[in-house]
Amino acid sequence: MLITSGGAATGSSEVAVDEMGSGTIFEGENGARPLANKGRGPAATKDISIFGLGYVGAISLACLARDGHRVVGVDIDSVKLDLIRARQSPILEEGIQELMRDVVDSGRVAVTNDATQAVRDTELSFVCVGTPSAANGSQDLTAILRLAEQIGAALKGKREFHTIVIRSTVQPGTLEEKIEPILERTSGKKSGVDFGLCFQPEFLREGSSIRDYDHPPYTIVGGNCEAAVNAVRELFEHLPGRFLVTSIRVAEALKMSCNAFHALKITFANEIGRVSQSLGIDSHEVMRLVCADTRLNISPAYLKPGFAFGGSCLPKDLRALTAIAKQNDLEIPMLASLLASNRAHVDHAVDKILKLGRPKVGMLGLSFKTGTDDLRESPLVMVAKRLIGEGCELRIFDPEVQLSRLLGANRSYIDAHIPHLGSLLCADIGDMIDPSEVILVGLQQSALDAELQARVRPDQFLLDLVNLPNRDLLRCRYEGVCW
Ligand SMILES: NC(=O)c1ccc[n+]([C@@H]2O[C@H](COP(=O)([O-])OP(=O)(O)OC[C@H]3O[C@@H](n4cnc5c(N)ncnc54)[C@H](O)[C@@H]3O)[C@@H](O)[C@H]2O)c1
Repeated sequence: MLITSGGAATGSSEVAVDEMGSGTIFEGENGARPLANKGRGPAATKDISIFGLGYVGAISLACLARDGHRVVGVDIDSVKLDLIRARQSPILEEGIQELMRDVVDSGRVAVTNDATQAVRDTELSFVCVGTPSAANGSQDLTAILRLAEQIGAALKGKREFHTIVIRSTVQPGTLEEKIEPILERTSGKKSGVDFGLCFQPEFLREGSSIRDYDHPPYTIVGGNCEAAVNAVRELFEHLPGRFLVTSIRVAEALKMSCNAFHALKITFANEIGRVSQSLGIDSHEVMRLVCADTRLNISPAYLKPGFAFGGSCLPKDLRALTAIAKQNDLEIPMLASLLASNRAHVDHAVDKILKLGRPKVGMLGLSFKTGTDDLRESPLVMVAKRLIGEGCELRIFDPEVQLSRLLGANRSYIDAHIPHLGSLLCADIGDMIDPSEVILVGLQQSALDAELQARVRPDQFLLDLVNLPNRDLLRCRYEGVCW
């Protein structure tokens, strides 16, 4: 049944908003009129259903229809459906009211609460339902899993290939472990063959949603088959920013990581702001100059999973900053927790070794980073100290560290933490590798990599703290500290 804005038939403003009592949602090609395309939409027109008409779904519906596609919006909230029928947006965002009116007038938008019909009448479904926090902080997947049952049941009666694209933020593993099995069970079809499943994280920010939709930092999709990924590619490849394909799990983890990173950045700036204010310092000037360093600060530097930080500066200065906050009765919980998090990373590596139950451990590296003999607050010294305490038989090789050459604060530090270091240091890398059952690699140099490749044996276990290149060439059991 065709209805119009306000419910009355009005010739020119007739819209293809259908309650889907019968037939298809759109009445055919003629039912949809072209709309002045303010975006830079792709050429091929698709029939698309969107489940969940909140912030993400409503923006997607309006922008996809603007780009020339025919879009069916599905929601369980009849108020949202009625608003769209009345040419109004269910959400408030810059430019959305005008856009919603235009796309509804174009005849390319329909809304319904009938999930089955929406799936059958479209080739691709976007899932944008909410994934709020449960009482214990975990993600409440009730709505998305219930919807998966409905979509699966709808697929049962459909012969054509269908692509399902999850845009709700979900915890890693949700698609492959939860949604895919539900879809296969309820449809009786094979995922990746009869239907495709993708995760495409949404990067829009409320307040600038339409602009963000049209200018994503990049478009990322993880999918279980080429046909599904290509369907998404056809829709979004025209957008600025790269179109990147990855695995479903990486795409899921990426979205959560991005949000965590944004929260981290905001908290960092605010904690630095509070400390600066307490010292009478212009916090905006401090952060402006922090951001002006695009080599070490605003850059990929220090953003690779690896081992704990250490050395003579970072731990000491973090302690000092935390002390300043305390003296000024300020709470800076995030910055104050960094050393504890760093210690947890050291413990994580030690636990991996102790779990093996092999007491003979060889360490490649001891100083706080490759190319220096500075042992002060080196996380590798912490590892060595703990392993000795746990009764491991330790051998250490570090080409830069020679006991006779250690002086001053560096010497005092090591004397306080590993007084018998001299008896553990090996003069040659072979003396460290050959008798060891477990090898811990804490420094990376191409000459040493070659020695490792030549010497390690299949009966040995190697724990990599430095993300060794060419690790496929190592003939031993291998594990990364956090990869
Ligand atoms: N809001 C944002 O800026 C933003 C940005 C990126 C990602 N996300 C993620 O996108 C998802 C949606 O966020 P939102 O802010 O748009 O949520 P929202 O709460 O505004 O909207 C969700 C909609 O889904 C509907 N719904 C629930 N069950 C349904 C069902 N079975 N069938 C059809 N509709 C159903 C609800 O009625 C509601 O209208 C969340 O996972 C969120 O984390 C949100």
